[in-house]
Amino acid sequence: MAGLRAFAVTALLLVANGARAQGQSGLRVDLNSPDSIRTAAKTVARNLRAQYHGDEYGQTVGILPGPPPIGPYYWWQAGAMFGTLIDYWHYTGDDEYNGITADAMLYQASPPQNSFMPPNWTASLGNDDQGFWGMAAMLAAETNFPNPPKGRPQWLALAQAVFNTQAPRWEVQDCNGGLRWQIPPSNGGYNYKNTIANGVFFNLAARLARYTENTTYTDWAERSWDWMVGVGYIDKDYNAYDGAHVETNCTKLTPVQFSANAAVLLHGAAIMYNYTNSDVWRGRVTGLLNRTIDFFFPDGIMVERACELEDKVQCNVDQHSFKGYMHRAMATAVMVAPFARADIMRVLRSSTEGAVKSCLSDGTCGFRWDRGSYDGDVDHGPAGQAMSVLAALSTMLVEVRNTPPLTNKTGGTSEGDPNAGGNSNVLLPLPPVTPAWRGGAAVLTTAVLASTIGGLLWMSSDWAEG
Ligand SMILES: *[C@@H]1O[C@H](CO)[C@@H](O)[C@H](O)[C@H]1NC(C)=O
Ligand SMILES: *[C@@H]1O[C@H](CO)[C@@H](O)[C@H](O)[C@H]1NC(C)=O
Ligand SMILES: *[C@@H]1O[C@H](CO)[C@@H](O)[C@H](O)[C@H]1NC(C)=O
Ligand SMILES: *[C@@H]1O[C@H](CO)[C@@H](O)[C@H](O)[C@H]1NC(C)=O
Ligand SMILES: *[C@@H]1O[C@H](CO)[C@@H](O)[C@H](O)[C@H]1NC(C)=O
Ligand SMILES: *[C@@H]1O[C@H](CO)[C@@H](O)[C@H](O)[C@H]1NC(C)=O
Repeated sequence: MAGLRAFAVTALLLVANGARAQGQSGLRVDLNSPDSIRTAAKTVARNLRAQYHGDEYGQTVGILPGPPPIGPYYWWQAGAMFGTLIDYWHYTGDDEYNGITADAMLYQASPPQNSFMPPNWTASLGNDDQGFWGMAAMLAAETNFPNPPKGRPQWLALAQAVFNTQAPRWEVQDCNGGLRWQIPPSNGGYNYKNTIANGVFFNLAARLARYTENTTYTDWAERSWDWMVGVGYIDKDYNAYDGAHVETNCTKLTPVQFSANAAVLLHGAAIMYNYTNSDVWRGRVTGLLNRTIDFFFPDGIMVERACELEDKVQCNVDQHSFKGYMHRAMATAVMVAPFARADIMRVLRSSTEGAVKSCLSDGTCGFRWDRGSYDGDVDHGPAGQAMSVLAALSTMLVEVRNTPPLTNKTGGTSEGDPNAGGNSNVLLPLPPVTPAWRGGAAVLTTAVLASTIGGLLWMSSDWAEG
């Protein structure tokens, strides 16, 4: 966190170097041709993979360059990238990156606890950060991503470990429940209860419920959803707001909307609908989808509206990766909530058409999808930009490769461990001493650009008040 704010100072303004793109041709793809989609996706995947150096000598396995100020990326984003690469493999069949993906997940799971809480990253360890790795592990189980050798932790057990360490963090003294954003009490943001931390927990609980049919998970999925509605983070029109502080008993909402929140909620709700086959969950999926399309897909192309403004982009590195999570969540909803298929495919397609136009022929992709060409926005990535376009292209194959998330009963082979992650919490070390420059950086940026996903709160409270 501290590092991110310092980094944000230098990254404050988008340096538009779109000029670089002039004269270069764009990525070509025919969205009616699965082969053409696979070829284009492969080009973008190669470009994304080039951002990862964890498999090189002397580098740390499983992370993208960072955290700030060492490099642009926080720990969680690598977890999100490997989830994206699992979906890439699942939809396209290209297993080129399965090896680095499995190595990364098993390494960052961090033995012996194997609950995605590596001591190295404690200073930026939010429930959302841990949860993004947990969701990648869950996806590996749902897609029968090749199982690790016996004796190593298994995908389902890794997802359960994340759930098992998070459920005890639910705390009712403030706001009548909810998870806090950060895990270590000394991290800035520990006093914030946000939608991303609770939404990812909800997402994992829903998927574990469907996969295992263990009612403990179902209960937690219902409880976390009800709580987010109760405090107004999800309102009656299905807007999904960012969160609130415990000092206000979660009554003073940060009213800004980011697509990562809506994505994890829509995905979890679609899974709950599929698992329960209930009208209640069907209504929630319908409501979330309606609001998502109206809000995030103006003119059918995805826009990260809270920070991607008409005349300028204020999105930080994290936010540059959000669009892909939405496209992936919507594609999963196509498979598990077939009633919504036509509505979803219409926007996935038009949005992907825009996404592709943001790329150069070598697979370098920009951030703005509604401009019709590469925007040269590489300074806040470019891993997030590549992840997002890769997700958009991969998920266009959902109709030719409609293989819904597996469960224990429908062919999923990953082995679980209901007690995984057992005593991880007590072993969590104190975060390192706060660097001296932190305060200065925080003041300088006055909360313009912030940290892990939930750090949006800094930005957003600034906007809300300004
Ligand atoms: C933690 O950091 C050390 C020192 O940089 C590195 O050797 C190790 O691989 C890291 N572990 C993880 C899980 O990232
Ligand atoms: C805090 O809010 C919850 C509902 O979200 C309510 O049940 C509780 O009474 C409130 N506590 C205080 C001290 O106002
Ligand atoms: C969402 O619902 C509103 C109100 O019923 C409707 O006007 C709008 O067209 C719907 N949007 C989508 C994308 O279905
Ligand atoms: C749940 O998903 C399966 C695919 O896994 C689909 O065949 C089924 O129709 C879905 N159930 C409902 C209630 O839509
Ligand atoms: C399903 O879960 C049960 C109980 O945890 C387990 O014994 C069984 O091996 C699982 N089935 C598959 C196919 O993994
Ligand atoms: C269901 O999940 C909970 C939470 O992980 C676990 O404590 C319990 O043992 C599980 N029950 C079964 C039957 O696996």
